[in-house]
Amino acid sequence: MKKDISKNTNIDINSFLHYGKKYGTPLYIYDGNMIVDRYKSLYEYINWPNLKILYAMKANYNVGILKLLKQHNAYLDTVSPGEVQLALKLGFKLEDILFTSNNITDDEMHEVKKTGVLFNIGSLSRLKKYGAAYPGGEVCIRFNPDVYAGENKHVQTAGNVTKFGVLLSQADEVIKIVKKYNLKIVGIHEHTGSGIAQTEKVFQSMKNILAVANRNDFPDLRFVDFGGGFKVQYKPKTHRIDYANFGKKITSIFEKFCKEYGKELEMYFEPGKYIVAESGYLMIEVNTIKNNRGRLIAGTNSGFNHLIRPLLYESYHYIENLSNPKGKKYIYDICGNICETGDCFAQQREMPEIREGDKLLIKNAGAYCYSMGSIYNLRAMPSEVIVVNGKDQLVTKRPTNNELAESLIYSTLI
Ligand code: LLP
Repeated sequence: MKKDISKNTNIDINSFLHYGKKYGTPLYIYDGNMIVDRYKSLYEYINWPNLKILYAMKANYNVGILKLLKQHNAYLDTVSPGEVQLALKLGFKLEDILFTSNNITDDEMHEVKKTGVLFNIGSLSRLKKYGAAYPGGEVCIRFNPDVYAGENKHVQTAGNVTKFGVLLSQADEVIKIVKKYNLKIVGIHEHTGSGIAQTEKVFQSMKNILAVANRNDFPDLRFVDFGGGFKVQYKPKTHRIDYANFGKKITSIFEKFCKEYGKELEMYFEPGKYIVAESGYLMIEVNTIKNNRGRLIAGTNSGFNHLIRPLLYESYHYIENLSNPKGKKYIYDICGNICETGDCFAQQREMPEIREGDKLLIKNAGAYCYSMGSIYNLRAMPSEVIVVNGKDQLVTKRPTNNELAESLIYSTLI
């Protein structure tokens, strides 16, 4: 039976309020069961015998989430030596990890190469350096599929203006380098962007990169990786993509290609957002209500250092007033405690009356929220809790202000 992915969280209001009391706010809460459901749903939607879903751990490298996904035999897409190290420490197998490198240094290349993880290389320059240092090895090549998509310009990762990938027209040069260093191209890769609404763009990008594989001399392919970018529903009551249909179209494109290529290859996808976005919540507390000549401002104990998407991408995050869900509606700016005017989670948002002391829940905060956080203004990151089968577990603990200050003092010699 297909999973009902429109189903929302398994956590009810009282449990949220209980976690807020138990661990304090601000607090990140993840619904572990939902993460597993989302991960598995892709295997149901995309019916390909050799399918691998690599979780893009940049979306959220919370150790509880990674361990849970590992229990469900997940594969990983990593983008830095730090991510590779964490994945290996948590027991992910070498062959289950792909390293998508981007503007790495030679030292980083050697550090990751020592682990044995497969490299996904996105520039001719790095391919030459890799080949010279490690002739005879296996690599994956990241191409720029010449189709870009995504929720906003910062997260569109292909086309003319992007730093990512080797141009399709440079395939000949790739082959020259590969021959010179006796490398084996075992995979080709593309990624068009994050939060892709127009599924035709994905199909077109697949066709573009597959055409390159067909036209050129890539005899050793084991897999094709079509990246991530699966869109989730940030605004309630907006269109949900029909991933069952999407899956059918994808498999038919790939099936046709494999017939022409003469071998049934593995198909990879590497979603981050789709797997974790909707399972995450940031619970914050209101401490100041202000009326600025008619403009109501709710000041809270968190800020854009904890969740930067609204400020950086003008992203919409649904916010619920857990403490007064049925209150009379007013319009608010919901702001943080950071010393910048842009520090707002929502502007001119209709909400049930917000009072000082109310707990607000920012939804869809599982992807690129904690992982893009910082300690700007010297405010520590929140604790993180994962809830699995109704049981809550503290995964990261918010440092005290004293611990935060201590962590910055490396030497007393100054
Ligand atoms: N693979 C590659 C090579 C990527 O660059 C990305 C994301 C992914 C996979 C995963 O994409 P996803 O399935 O999560 O859309 N911070 C932004 C998103 C940045 C995505 C960057 N690359 C946001 O909060 O919307």
